[in-house]
Amino acid sequence: MSEAKNSALSEEMILPKPDDFHVHFRQGESLGAYVRSSAQWFGRALVMPNTLPPVVDAGSLDAYRKKITACLPESLDFIPLMSFKLLAGMDAKTVETCAAAGAVAGKYYPAGATTNAADGPSNPGAVSEALSAMESAGVVLSIHGEDPDAPSLEREAAFLPALEKILDRWPRLRIVLEHLSTREAVDFVAKGPERLAATITAHHLLFTIDDMMGAGLNPHLFCKPPIKSAADRRALRNAAFSGSPKFFFGSDSAPHARAAKESARAPGGVYSSPTAIPALLGLFESEGALEALKPFVASSGARFYRLPAPQGRLRLLREPWTVPGEIDGIVPMCAGSELAWRLA
Ligand code: DOR
Ligand code: ZN
Repeated sequence: MSEAKNSALSEEMILPKPDDFHVHFRQGESLGAYVRSSAQWFGRALVMPNTLPPVVDAGSLDAYRKKITACLPESLDFIPLMSFKLLAGMDAKTVETCAAAGAVAGKYYPAGATTNAADGPSNPGAVSEALSAMESAGVVLSIHGEDPDAPSLEREAAFLPALEKILDRWPRLRIVLEHLSTREAVDFVAKGPERLAATITAHHLLFTIDDMMGAGLNPHLFCKPPIKSAADRRALRNAAFSGSPKFFFGSDSAPHARAAKESARAPGGVYSSPTAIPALLGLFESEGALEALKPFVASSGARFYRLPAPQGRLRLLREPWTVPGEIDGIVPMCAGSELAWRLA
């Protein structure tokens, strides 16, 4: 139902309300701003559990969901999809109670791979009981696929052998490899079984490593996994534009305060919730791939997660606007740039 009125250069685009299958809402006083920003654009979002403290059981999951929904005005229909963080030694009971509390995914962060991941398992064997329970309960395994012992730009490719082992050992487990950044990972997912899918972010589709550090260092584009070469981006675009149900949108919108991002030790994360959809519409349109936008942002992910098709609609207008330097106190993706489409 993505309709572009007056085909060639339509002034309006109507999409089913997109889903974001990977978002960081954080905790504390900014939570409400991030949730409301996301809810303007998305009907549902899969909320990552690497908060402080983390979401690791049914109690913390339920409490976090209540905090999120309490931030929403009545006028915004938005469903937070919840996940929990896998910890070494997690037992089956914990997984089952999380599933009963509505968890759709358990997140595997290799120890030390990214923000708030020091407590992650050091190998899949450390969470074997939990993975078996997830397989039985139909809870999706969401993976941050980087091997922190490999060199920074090689971490994703270096993780793939571990993923192969997980696929072999848990033959019915459904798996999402998050925020793909390399040709190797695109290829691995494309050739893998149907129960293996992947998210792709807007920033990995839009930018290359040279946008981040080719001229001067732009810490606001620094993320994990890092944005890579033009050839990697080409592979990601081909996957997103292919219409394959294995590749769908997850923003990995990950706000960090400006002072931290502009410090001597910038944390990884791109705040993309407020700009991802108009930026993607511009990209898909300019690359002649508009047909693939709807499956990418508003149906393939829902199908993989066995959720109802997206409800509601999102209306965008072709009216250029300049993205502000700060949104919700954070420097957003595309800050200072002009986007062709805006929210109606
Ligand atoms: O860039 C990232 N930021 N990648 C992640 O995996 C985590 C995220 C965050 O939480 O800041
Ligand atoms: Zn993330």
